[in-house]
Amino acid sequence: MSDNDILQLLPEIDEISDASLRSKTAEALSLAIQRGGWTAKNIQHAPVTITWKGCSCNLIEHIRVVTQLCIANYNCLSKFYVANGAPLDWDTVVCGALLHDLGKFTEFTWSAGGVTYSENAHLMRHPLSGAVMAAQCGLPDTIVHLIATHSFEGDASVKTAESAFVRAIDDFAFKCTVFGLEK
Ligand SMILES: [Fe+2]
Repeated sequence: MSDNDILQLLPEIDEISDASLRSKTAEALSLAIQRGGWTAKNIQHAPVTITWKGCSCNLIEHIRVVTQLCIANYNCLSKFYVANGAPLDWDTVVCGALLHDLGKFTEFTWSAGGVTYSENAHLMRHPLSGAVMAAQCGLPDTIVHLIATHSFEGDASVKTAESAFVRAIDDFAFKCTVFGLEK
């Protein structure tokens, strides 16, 4: 998929203020989508989860929900915490939200039979594979850290404010999509 295709899928990329970070974000998404075997024709089948049956949204929709919730919450903090502003770096929050589940594009794979875990999913759960791909694309350590620590892999780790922020919102958004469903 071209950078323009990625931008069509995830228009929130344009919210990143730094041009270089914007470009690396699109590059990382393009790499993960291509590496996972996803195309314009099947990308809507890329899942948030296959453990929970009947999840109401796909991976692109989940990433957009998390990113838009992060933006809305950041703006709310900035509005009311006027004295010090939101104690978070804007570009790290937006880029981190867009890339937090980067590894899910390679954790799952699509075939005629439907979506399954990919061969190495048990070795490279999405926080690990996503962090590796982000580093390969030259994203800064703050983003690599955020991806690596956004799920239970990060439980025992130091977490930046941006990582803790995206992680909390992702957790909320994920629970909303699986509420009432069974594994
Ligand atoms: Fe997520």
